[in-house]
Amino acid sequence: MSPTGWLLLGLAVALVAGLPYWLPRTVIALRVRIFARVGGEEGVRAPGREVPAEEFKKVYGHPAANGRSRGAALSDLFWYWLSPGPEVHQEHLEPGPRYDDVARTTRQILAGLSREQWTELVGRCTRRVLDELDGHARVHRVRLRDLMMPVWAEVYYEVVFRAPCPRHVRDLITANADDVVSALKCTGLRHMDRRARLTAHLRDRLAHDPPPVPLPSTLTAREQAYYLQGTFFNTAVVQMSEAMAHLLLALATHRPVQDRLASGEEGPDFLDGVINETLQHFPLFGVAHRITSGEIPRDGRDPIPAGSVLLFNYPEYQGSGGDPFDPDRWLNADTRPSASIPFGVTANRPCPARGFAVLTMRVAAEEVLRRFRLDSSVEHTRSLPSRGPCLLVARTGAEGARLRTRLAVLRLADSWEGVWRSLVQLVLGSYMVWDARRQGLCRNYFAASSGGSTTSVPAGR
Ligand code: HEM
Repeated sequence: MSPTGWLLLGLAVALVAGLPYWLPRTVIALRVRIFARVGGEEGVRAPGREVPAEEFKKVYGHPAANGRSRGAALSDLFWYWLSPGPEVHQEHLEPGPRYDDVARTTRQILAGLSREQWTELVGRCTRRVLDELDGHARVHRVRLRDLMMPVWAEVYYEVVFRAPCPRHVRDLITANADDVVSALKCTGLRHMDRRARLTAHLRDRLAHDPPPVPLPSTLTAREQAYYLQGTFFNTAVVQMSEAMAHLLLALATHRPVQDRLASGEEGPDFLDGVINETLQHFPLFGVAHRITSGEIPRDGRDPIPAGSVLLFNYPEYQGSGGDPFDPDRWLNADTRPSASIPFGVTANRPCPARGFAVLTMRVAAEEVLRRFRLDSSVEHTRSLPSRGPCLLVARTGAEGARLRTRLAVLRLADSWEGVWRSLVQLVLGSYMVWDARRQGLCRNYFAASSGGSTTSVPAGR
């Protein structure tokens, strides 16, 4: 071969060997550009030039920053992902009597358990799911999100219906939740048949054996099933599984922190610090949006006009990419980060689970740590499309060279899987953005009710 031939061959080999390092990043950048192009003109970014970080909470918490769906092209995409029933999903309901009715019901359902009952329920469900792992294997290779989803399916079924979750219903719930979160992350398309099976089950259940807390009276029977499906068997299950996947992966990749917890010498405050630090580094929301219903006045700046789409960027506000992973900083009021809003802002539709989410994560994490040591070598990103590959090693016996080999294989598999997945996400994401825009679920809903108007913005979460 000629020298030029060798050179070209060498370049081709380097390009292919380096695929895991450059392709996923390039594809993500391309995806953002395609989303922005298909989504249309931009909204107001916070923090950003228009809304600096110092004003972030004030603007987010302003009473006029209260629109949720109507008037943003972005809403068509979220309604598409959260179907069926996005029009009664608490996160996307416009403020008003219907929202109040739904939010009150959610609060009542969640308030039905004392802290002791939450602790007992989450501990019991976690143990049951962990018992299903092969008892003879010393090392389990799992995806943390998949491991945790059945736990939260069981927990939230019991929270709603106050009865243990039958196995086939647990499968319906996890199929629904997994389908929604996979579509949101563009790693899969929507499968409406999977979601419809859960709706059919819930409708039947509500007709014959409704839950003890009365469901919103402003909703029809079908909408009541959608409400439970959206808030509890999608949002609750997905958010808790994602949060736990981040927490356990953070422990798996920060062994000194995990070892301190496993030693039994740390109190619950330290684990809470690890949870807070995890939510600071890997907030579950990328961007939460609001549509302004009136002008928002500001000191020394032009007011934000009514009808603006505000894009509140969590990772940017919390400085998620920066500091090293340091749970100890949460133990002291002087070192605790002030820019931290893992559950939203209190003044503007915060998360209804904020009072006990950390407690329930702690209980589930303690159950896992009691049985297993966690080890992983994969990339830990905020959107975690890999679902958190991890090794669970039984807390008996010694570490060996075999484990180091398995971790090396895990790392290699993760980086090559990332190459393929980023291409899949590009194609499926572009298709869903186009399809959501074509279907215009939110646009058409408001147009049918009163001739609503729309403004275009790019996709965010
Ligand atoms: C660690 C777990 C969780 C985190 C980090 C989290 C985070 C958040 C955040 C940041 C928001 C506000 C978004 C915005 O301003 O638009 C929110 C809203 C919400 N969350 Fe959670 N969440 C978690 C678990 C849950 C659970 C278990 C439920 C179960 C019921 C839940 C239900 C909701 C609902 C219904 C809303 C919308 C509130 C409204 O608009 O009235 N979340 N969550």
